[in-house]
Amino acid sequence: MNIAICSDHGGYELKMRLIPFIEGMGHEVTDFGCYDERSVDYPDYAFPMAEAVARGEFERGVAICGTGIGVSICCNKVRGIRCALCGDVLSAELTRRHNDSNILAMGGRIIGPETAKAITAAWLSTAFDGGRHEGRIAKISRYENE
Ligand code: RB5
Repeated sequence: MNIAICSDHGGYELKMRLIPFIEGMGHEVTDFGCYDERSVDYPDYAFPMAEAVARGEFERGVAICGTGIGVSICCNKVRGIRCALCGDVLSAELTRRHNDSNILAMGGRIIGPETAKAITAAWLSTAFDGGRHEGRIAKISRYENE
């Protein structure tokens, strides 16, 4: 898959560990910044990445800040984005199966790199269940298009 990734300074270190990990899973990764650990504002990175995912330029996105909360708030304001903030593997698997989430958010100051890799691997390799969940996602789409 084509994967977009972004972070602020709080997520930079984790992002730099995850990029080779995701590439090692056979995916192509595009980094939307930031590009070093200088203090920046997470909306400046989360909005452009989420918009690129919403336009269909990338199949999925990964957004990381200190807590994961700031980037997840931003991403979920972009029409067509279903961003899931995950701190455990079961949530990562279930949000793919039930919510068809297209962006994964994580907190670089909350979880360690091995947990983040396990979450990312589960999220990237789990398919949407469809079925009864289709109608629920259609309701979200209808609401945001009203
Ligand atoms: C930056 O200090 C921090 O506020 C940010 O990374 C994130 O945690 C916001 O939600």
